[in-house]
Amino acid sequence: MKVEGDKLKEILALIESIKDPEIGISIVKLRMIDSIEDNEDKITVNVKLTVPGCPLSSTIEKDIKAALKSQGYADVEVNFGFMTKEELEDIKNVIRKERISMPESIERYEKKKIKHIIAVYSAKGGVGKSTVVKLLSQTAKSLGYKTGILDCDISGPSIASLFNIKKQAYANESGKIMPNVNEGISIIGVDMLTNVEAIIWRGPLVSSAIKQMYNDTEWGDLDILLLDLPPGTSDAPITVFQSIPVDGVVVVTTPQELSNIVGKKTLVVAKSLNIPVIGVIENMSYFVCKDCGAVNYLGKSDEKIDLPILAKLPFFMDSNPTEESKSQLKVAIGRIINTKK
Ligand SMILES: Nc1ncnc2c1ncn2[C@@H]1O[C@H](COP(=O)(O)OP(=O)(O)OP(=O)(O)O)[C@@H](O)[C@H]1O
Ligand SMILES: [Mg+2]
Repeated sequence: MKVEGDKLKEILALIESIKDPEIGISIVKLRMIDSIEDNEDKITVNVKLTVPGCPLSSTIEKDIKAALKSQGYADVEVNFGFMTKEELEDIKNVIRKERISMPESIERYEKKKIKHIIAVYSAKGGVGKSTVVKLLSQTAKSLGYKTGILDCDISGPSIASLFNIKKQAYANESGKIMPNVNEGISIIGVDMLTNVEAIIWRGPLVSSAIKQMYNDTEWGDLDILLLDLPPGTSDAPITVFQSIPVDGVVVVTTPQELSNIVGKKTLVVAKSLNIPVIGVIENMSYFVCKDCGAVNYLGKSDEKIDLPILAKLPFFMDSNPTEESKSQLKVAIGRIINTKK
């Protein structure tokens, strides 16, 4: 039963002094308490976080439980949801009123003049994400789409070396980063920015570097911007989903890894933010014997996952994709472009 009236006031008063650990303002003031339920003496507090997957949620949970238990509420449960974009705008006003600085984590960036922002993700490192980003960008370009890549891998960027880019990017007169244009594709990564230190190292955190690269780059009109994410073990993919207006996620796996993507926290967060997971590109799926042409699959690829397979790419014997791969990648780009949020 939903708690209302005086009892609601009483419980809110008990938790009013609990502050969001990052923002430093009361969780009640920030309207993070969505609802409170009382079912047979069990109190359930439903909290809306500003940041999905927020590592500090356990602190909030602990504080709420302690505050209520100290007043005799023995059985307390805390559930977490996320704020909508509109709700976040509201709390920004509360923060402004308190005259404290806006925390990085609740900043949301605009779509700019980019039609489709697609994050390429893998649960595991080294499965061929960056390679797939390169192939997808070249395919999109060959189909006439204005294409860009943002290398979101801060600790191990690899797009520049995949495209053999040696040039540094530069900032224009208004302080915007001008991406490197290679094969007609606009590319930016942290390794191209050692010349523009002042822009990029404003914040020491990986997340702020990604956000700044997205936001401070002059992308111009793009049909598609591919985000090469670092592997799924870090918080960087979640930061990307929270702050960049991503239209869809493409997952890269190898056949052996296919079953491991189900239930990955990153994908759960994407879905909770209404970002569609468009499908899977299975990389190093098979190899073709160069002597006899026989196709040899490298793992069982018929795992039951409820995501469409966008393409199956072979183990390339040289760095050039086969004709079959090129046509599969074209179909994949078609599906990516046609995904509606
Ligand atoms: N289909 C393929 N055939 C042959 N080699 C491949 C294929 N895909 C990727 N590779 C090779 O596998 C290695 C890892 O690929 P890549 O860097 O694209 O993976 P990644 O998922 O982006 O890695 P990280 O998680 O470190 O960013 C590279 O040496 C790349 O050349
Ligand atoms: Mg990579």
